[in-house]
Amino acid sequence: MNEKISFLKNKINLSSPNKNIVPITTNIDITEKLNIGGCSIEDLVKKYESPLYILDEITLRNSCRAYKKALEKYYRGVSLPIYASKANSSLFMSNLVASEGFGLDAVSEGELLTALKGGVPNEKIVFHGNNKSDKEIAFAIKNKIKVIVDNEHDLKRLEEISNSLNFDLEIMIRFTPGIECHTHEYIRTGSFDSKFGFGIESLTKLFGVIIKTKHLKLIGLHAHIGSQIFELEPHKDLGEIMVNVMLQAKKFGHNIKELNVGGGLGIKYTQEDDPPSIDEWIKTVSSSIEQACKKNKLDLPLLMCEPGRSIVSTAGVTIYKIGSFKEIPGIRTYLSVDGGMSDNPRPITYQSNYSACLVNDPLNINSKNKYTVAGKHCESGDVLFKEIELGKCKTGDLICVFGTGAYNNSMSSNYNRIPKPAAVLVCNGEAEIIQKRESPHDLLKNDVLPDRFINQS
Ligand code: LLP
Repeated sequence: MNEKISFLKNKINLSSPNKNIVPITTNIDITEKLNIGGCSIEDLVKKYESPLYILDEITLRNSCRAYKKALEKYYRGVSLPIYASKANSSLFMSNLVASEGFGLDAVSEGELLTALKGGVPNEKIVFHGNNKSDKEIAFAIKNKIKVIVDNEHDLKRLEEISNSLNFDLEIMIRFTPGIECHTHEYIRTGSFDSKFGFGIESLTKLFGVIIKTKHLKLIGLHAHIGSQIFELEPHKDLGEIMVNVMLQAKKFGHNIKELNVGGGLGIKYTQEDDPPSIDEWIKTVSSSIEQACKKNKLDLPLLMCEPGRSIVSTAGVTIYKIGSFKEIPGIRTYLSVDGGMSDNPRPITYQSNYSACLVNDPLNINSKNKYTVAGKHCESGDVLFKEIELGKCKTGDLICVFGTGAYNNSMSSNYNRIPKPAAVLVCNGEAEIIQKRESPHDLLKNDVLPDRFINQS
């Protein structure tokens, strides 16, 4: 890591990438320009155009390995980390996490298919969702993928399917543990008032119902309390609660062998953010489950966790090209970039903050200027940075926004009929395309003009 990159003010943490703002291979070359994965960002944009999503393979693998290593270090039972693919789903991501020994969490047929085609073994995939379609359930069952039962409706359909096929189905159930955590209300899921999972108070009745079914075998419990969480306490509490629920289930005769504690570990988007390390998070979860099992004389279950953001966010950056400027004297200077809310809906949705720099002046050495960075969409709220200090910017300069690997590409849209950016993978000075840039023609692919309208135009 180049010492000069001190605008990031922190020493790069190689073993817990979520504690850095930038990908761990970020560097500044001899011409003072930004490099990631040994690739010049300027050269990448010359080749692949902008906006451009970039993923750094070394950061991704370090994040996966940090989870594996910590689980081996702290959990005495068997464990399986599962990548929450909603954070960034692609053939490449499925393949990468599979190669690191991870399982994968999917919530739709699209995510399931992407996981299978990307090489994730079916027995390591779990299927979530609060409103799975019949078709999605059939797809999961046909591919022998474990379904996490979220509600009565799921339960009823799985019971019918297992009866009609006359075979046993292993299921896990998701419940809301009633844990509050300090994160944006849209990404908080563990409190009582949540659309996901069974209420903890309904579990006793539920255990009684499931035990009477002919073919449903309840083998595991799942809970996920929210995302971008910086405290360790909620996950310590969660471990204890889950073991208590496991004990209750056992009393009904269920053989609970698996506990899935969900994801949620936060990442460092800005200097103010200070998330725990992956190691600390796993240590907390593991010791809370181990202690509760010991207290209740229970065998250690298979421990699953489902990180999404902390696997992929820090590995990703987005590069934009600056176009127009608008100075409102005494108020602000807007600079507009060639992307915005269609490739990153997080600022407009959750008022999320990011860090960024100019590709040709990453250290802001030339001068410091305050800008409002606007997207190009027809929406006043399409602002990526309300106020950011950058070097002197001019039309054609490139801006690199850090920490965009999670929930950007996967939440992108075609608002204003803007094609989605390309995504490239960088590693050891090589760049490879992992998602092609859409073209405006791709956007017309599924439009149909009914015959009777054709001659009218
Ligand atoms: N497991 C389940 C069941 C989940 O619902 C989620 C995230 C995860 C695991 C992964 O959580 P993570 O490790 O990424 O925090 N779009 C929002 C985040 C929504 C999270 C949804 N569920 C955002 O951009 O902040």
